[in-house]
Amino acid sequence: ARAALPRAPEFDATLALLREGAGYISARADHLGTDVFRTRLALRPVICMRGAEAAEIFYGGDRFTRRGAMPASIRHLLQDDGSVQGLDGAAHRHRKAMFTGLMLEDSIRRLAGHFAAEWRSAVPGWQTAGRVVLVRALPQLLFRAAAVWAGVPVDDAEATRRADEMEAMIVNAGRLGPANWRARLRRHQTEAWARRVIRDLRAGAAAELSPALPAAAIAAHRDEAGRLLPEAVAAVELINLLRPVVAVGHFILFAALALHHHPEWRTRFATGADEDLEPFAQEIRRTTPFFPAVAGRVLTPFTWRGIDFAADAWVLFDIHGTDTHPALWADPAAFRPERFRGWDGDPWRLVPQGAGLVGATHRCPGERITLELIKEAVRLLCRDLDWRLPPQDLTVDPARLPACPADGLVLADLRPCR
Ligand code: HEM
Repeated sequence: ARAALPRAPEFDATLALLREGAGYISARADHLGTDVFRTRLALRPVICMRGAEAAEIFYGGDRFTRRGAMPASIRHLLQDDGSVQGLDGAAHRHRKAMFTGLMLEDSIRRLAGHFAAEWRSAVPGWQTAGRVVLVRALPQLLFRAAAVWAGVPVDDAEATRRADEMEAMIVNAGRLGPANWRARLRRHQTEAWARRVIRDLRAGAAAELSPALPAAAIAAHRDEAGRLLPEAVAAVELINLLRPVVAVGHFILFAALALHHHPEWRTRFATGADEDLEPFAQEIRRTTPFFPAVAGRVLTPFTWRGIDFAADAWVLFDIHGTDTHPALWADPAAFRPERFRGWDGDPWRLVPQGAGLVGATHRCPGERITLELIKEAVRLLCRDLDWRLPPQDLTVDPARLPACPADGLVLADLRPCR
């Protein structure tokens, strides 16, 4: 039987979405008593949905494309044209395999090791300054670690510039107007640089194209017809590897904040409890409003719960609302890493980086990297460096994406742990 699709109270939800950020879809869904409803964004009709079943509809079965679904303001700062996210079907799976092939355990361990080394070499400078503002320091450390890991040569000045550009893409993707335009202009420089990197790698000796180094693997990747990727596309994919590593810093901010708010975990990790690092990192990913929702456009019409999804219909899947859905998570607002002890890995319920099987859907290939970097940061924050939060504004504005404490999280009284 056909079902009526509930409608949000606003005629157009653009302003409410900008004001309420990651909480918008869930608040309306709660209000309407539903997991799927319709509204308009910038006057365009859109269906919003959340929950594990919605995740399966949105990610499974090749029902959706990302093409024509994201506004240019977001698309040009994040995945961009020609990237894996814009592909569908067999072409998508082929390109996706290139990314998943870079995520082997040894390789990720190497990346985490580079991050720890960067962190340790920065600590004396933080001590001299008497403090560190994590939101400013982390992009620098993470970019440098990612560049060494990927096999991209950068000197110090270049690393500083590129890290700033990547962080600007991350914090301005969700904004409209001049800040977004400036970040898009700056991105042209990042792209020109990434194209040079690809060109240099391709011009180098074949031995330098060691597939063990991610940048070389991208430079040498061939499509299903055996052709090298166009230089601009390889450059976009290189940026799509480096920028999200920088973005993990926003989860690390919230890991540090959680250690401050829940000092019992800090004490436990100071002396071991390695088996709880993963549950802790999962709970950070579940609770941090980062990538609030993903947009798709229906490829093949279908019906779900009596609701017709016509070809071309525009749909928003609520990531954060699924990760905090009251029917899926006991006491969803509570920070409780214990809930992930013995976690079954349900691919449709914990979805901060997308849902489903990584090889067959648009689910993020970088989840293992994200988890291992958060875990490494927690180790460093509990076993390497002693710190305290001086008085500061810890308010998190829900409309600011990715979420960030107002003062960027300042750590002071820095001393190496004994
Ligand atoms: C896809 C979030 C880290 C590379 C995605 C998607 C989400 C996401 C929600 C799915 C988009 C969709 O459904 O269309 C995040 C968050 C991260 C993160 C919150 C934390 C910082 C990473 C890392 C990498 C990465 C570390 C690589 C090193 C990608 C790529 C895709 C993707 C290439 C596109 C996959 C596809 O279309 O098949 N990410 N990600 N991400 N992510 Fe991540």
